Amino acid sequence: MKVLILAGGFATRLRPLSCTRPKILFPMVNKPLLQWTLERLARNGFKEAILAVNHQTEILIEQSRIPKHGMKITYSRDPFKKPLGTGGPVKKAERLIGHDEPFLVLNGDIFADVDYTDILKIHEEKDAVATIALHRVEDPSRYGVAELTKENRITRFIEKPPKEAAPTNRINAGVYALNPEIFNYIPEKRKVSMEREVFPKLVEEGKLYGYVSEGLWMDIGESEDYLEANEALLDLYVNQQKRKVTGKEQVKNPVALDKGVSVGEESVIGPYAILGRNASVGSHVHIRNSILFPGTVISDFSQIRGAIIGEDAFIGKGVKIREGCVLGDGVRINDNVSLAKGVSVCPAKEVSESVLTSKCIIK
Ligand code: GDD
Ligand code: MG
Repeated sequence: MKVLILAGGFATRLRPLSCTRPKILFPMVNKPLLQWTLERLARNGFKEAILAVNHQTEILIEQSRIPKHGMKITYSRDPFKKPLGTGGPVKKAERLIGHDEPFLVLNGDIFADVDYTDILKIHEEKDAVATIALHRVEDPSRYGVAELTKENRITRFIEKPPKEAAPTNRINAGVYALNPEIFNYIPEKRKVSMEREVFPKLVEEGKLYGYVSEGLWMDIGESEDYLEANEALLDLYVNQQKRKVTGKEQVKNPVALDKGVSVGEESVIGPYAILGRNASVGSHVHIRNSILFPGTVISDFSQIRGAIIGEDAFIGKGVKIREGCVLGDGVRINDNVSLAKGVSVCPAKEVSESVLTSKCIIK
């Protein structure tokens, strides 16, 4: 059975980290999101995945060299500078997917513990053209919202309704089981929104069904969601083992320290600190509720709280970084600089003076 993973979006709300990597490669507790997805698919017996990408994403995925878990990976590319939306890539991959059997489509930018085998089973039991996994959230206005009958037929599907207008709080979890018939519903060679064009058509014909999924589901739309999702995963998946680095530092669980991490004396790491591969932390440093991407350097006496720090960033001595700060890859923060809450810094920028209000540093 085949699966198509949608991975060509631009993730503008995750800037500056998404300036240099697609969302599908954001690390979730030190493992790229795509790797979690491929692992889950392989565990469920899938042998082949088609990644619907743009040219740049394809290059970055290849460079990331993530393990494929024995799966055959094929790329289906949107035309250059002409993104096909969420429906167009399905039509584009028609030949790769074939017409033999139902298939899965996944939004690549979510962490979803949906039972893939079960949704396909339910899908085949109904006379559905599409069955979408539904998850319950508090505020459905950022998502696609579905209203269903007792038999789980979807009677309305509204993409991103205003807060008061959402008929239910069951939202599209971004996991679909589709019949090859779906290809007849998607126009060719143009951008198509699955949610705004295709699903409403299926609703009219009574061919759209829902699969209520109660498993873990996380969207990493904005940096705050991204931090929260990582913290939730830390709680769930990481052994709360005490890991000594030099002996004089203190590790407060839960934390995740990837290979090659070093921590100096009298530093306190955690709770909720995720340090990527080869991150190097000096002495007397405090880091909590934060994510450090691989290769970051944090010099002595610095404090990092509630922040995300991009790959190979360099943080000088005595630096203070507060909640909601997001630093792009390769950023350099010089000694004794303080960053107020909510400051973001574009990739490779150097900051030599303290920033006292929330803003984005672009030069
Ligand atoms: N190849 C390709 N080309 N992929 C795309 C394109 C494109 O032009 N545009 C978006 N995608 C991919 C994204 O990378 C993402 O994995 C998926 O399609 C969904 O697109 P988003 O842009 O992330 O949509 P959203 O988050 O606003 O809303 C969607 O996801 C929600 C769940 O997270 C919708 O499907 C909602 O209904 C749903 O609730
Ligand atoms: Mg999304």
